[in-house]
Amino acid sequence: MVVPESQEKMYYPPVELQRNAHVPDFNSYLVMYKKSLENPEAFWREVADEFFWKKPATGPMLQHNFDMTKGNIFVNCMEGAKTNMCYNVLDRHVKEGKLGEKVAYYWEGNSPDHHMTITYRQLLSHVCRCANVLKQMGVKRGDRVSIYLPMIPELIVTMLACARIGAVHSIVVRKVTFNHPMPRDKGQDKVLCVYGVYRGEKLINLKQISDEALEKCREKLLLVMGLSPWNMNPKMYKSCIKSIIQDMQVSSQRDVWWDEVMRDSPDECEPEWMDAEDPLFILYTSGSTGKPKGVVHTVAGYLLYTSLTFRYVFDHHPDDVYWCTADIGWITGHSYITYGPLANGATSVLFEGLPVHPHVGRFWEIIEKYKVTKFYTAPTAIRLAEHQILGTVGEPINPEAWRWYHEVVGQGRCPVVDTFWQTETGGHVLTPLPAATPLKPGSATFPFFGVEPAILNEHGEELEGVTEGYLVFRKPWPGIMRTIYKNQELFENTYFRKFPGFYVTGDGCRRDKDGYYWITGRIDDMLNVSGHLMSTAEVEAALMLHQSVSEAAVVSRPHKVKGECLYCFVTLKDSKEFNCKLVEDLKRLVREKIGPIATPDFIQNAPALPKTRSGKIMRRILRQIARNEKDLGDLSTLADPKVVEVLFNQRSEAA
Ligand code: WT7
Repeated sequence: MVVPESQEKMYYPPVELQRNAHVPDFNSYLVMYKKSLENPEAFWREVADEFFWKKPATGPMLQHNFDMTKGNIFVNCMEGAKTNMCYNVLDRHVKEGKLGEKVAYYWEGNSPDHHMTITYRQLLSHVCRCANVLKQMGVKRGDRVSIYLPMIPELIVTMLACARIGAVHSIVVRKVTFNHPMPRDKGQDKVLCVYGVYRGEKLINLKQISDEALEKCREKLLLVMGLSPWNMNPKMYKSCIKSIIQDMQVSSQRDVWWDEVMRDSPDECEPEWMDAEDPLFILYTSGSTGKPKGVVHTVAGYLLYTSLTFRYVFDHHPDDVYWCTADIGWITGHSYITYGPLANGATSVLFEGLPVHPHVGRFWEIIEKYKVTKFYTAPTAIRLAEHQILGTVGEPINPEAWRWYHEVVGQGRCPVVDTFWQTETGGHVLTPLPAATPLKPGSATFPFFGVEPAILNEHGEELEGVTEGYLVFRKPWPGIMRTIYKNQELFENTYFRKFPGFYVTGDGCRRDKDGYYWITGRIDDMLNVSGHLMSTAEVEAALMLHQSVSEAAVVSRPHKVKGECLYCFVTLKDSKEFNCKLVEDLKRLVREKIGPIATPDFIQNAPALPKTRSGKIMRRILRQIARNEKDLGDLSTLADPKVVEVLFNQRSEAA
């Protein structure tokens, strides 16, 4: 890697920012990066030194095996150490750091009239009370707790309460779809927290949605329901309670009301001292087979990594007001609303609502209101805002949206950090550092400390210099996932089988002449719509549920706001007719089964699908048909090349 000297337009860090930055220039980045790879032991030990360890590590900072041919895949960080996540992100600041009166969160409700401020001391007190409530309800170290809450302070409180008593939280993704099937293997879950909530104008009854799951397995239910003063005004509260209580069966043996139990609960609770490699949480993400995978993250490594990435990637300083617009139900919220910011004693905005409610300028209004200095959001949100304000979207979309964000929103003064990572990586892995890295719109630039990327070809050979291929990582960083919940075999097969010795991301990647990395998108059977991953298999399975469909294949197609959208090919059973009603039915079916985010934009009739002689659907070809790219290249592996022509001819009928 060299200091980039490029002819194309680069965006250099503003000098004012560099003066006071943690990593003030590109050369400092290179020096630190080199150290992180050459001496990871010293590098990570220094990071660990600022945290509290009840017992120091007896083993090295990082041990691992990434080669399936040599034994089980594992990563082990700080063997022998004992600590507590909650202690490190709260007590440490309040007791040692004198940050008790500092604001941890500015909570902003769905309605602009609802807001509150929570200091570190208040948060600690709530968390301890909640931890005692959980214990009272029978939750023990190692138990799993499912949490189903909107973006309200109670969500953060319950997460941290779990971390405090050593319970493993599993937050149910809520934003994409309210009828997302709850993962089936939840027999051991102790508590489910539910709530009725307004999203924009709409009341969502989460209680009803989760009733079915409750029937099956939950022992106890902690109800968090609009009783706290900050949640809504009295009028809204009344109507909310009314409509929820109507069809809610509150069981006195099973259900506990938040306000009642919290009021009587003591606000001191000794943290449970956990082993470094004990699980902290499980978070479900799409699997390429269509079945969600429970990604497991562990205490010590995740603490070190989210804390360090937060500090450097957002160049965090004590007087910052930081806002990440993600939902906590996603890894982005876990790492960069809860754990990373709190580990740094940061002040964050926590926003319950939608960017367009009650008006399209809500985001910018909140930024003004709290004087937000660091803002972290998704490209989809940027494209949406850009669309609304300028009324135009150029091609290619990504650099265009980048420039708009940089020039219009950031007034040319604010670096845009395009962070590449995954639920599995725990934190940013390819990312610029705002005062150090010259930016190229659309590139996630360079690896973070301790991260060693490589680009491989199909045969697993490493490609040097300017190239494109599979993005893989050669060794672990502390925050990488440890396994898939109850499925080590799937973990090894998914991420390590293809190229022994490497963690395989599933993304394609290009490296340019200056060494910049550019993510080119998924190269497995996954789709990314508005930043939400789903598998082709999942959507296909939903389509196949329709009685007229005999076969389905789904690919992505670029979309000006969503980034990618779904283009579905369906083959109908004999005698079934392809018409508007069928298309509408299919769209509804997918929406119901997976969620609104998965609603297909296009459904095309496919009398037959392009297949290899062994019967494998050739998605590359379908992708090109969806994009109307006529130059299809080599079709010699197709069983019946005529299929392609038919599909091109029927293309115009796609609806
Ligand atoms: C997939 C991971 C970012 C964490 C939340 C999503 C895509 C992620 C970027 C980026 C291009 C990106 C990849 C990745 N992705 N960041 N900066 N540029 N693509 O986590 O749901 O696990 O999705 O999101 O395809 O594999 P996730």
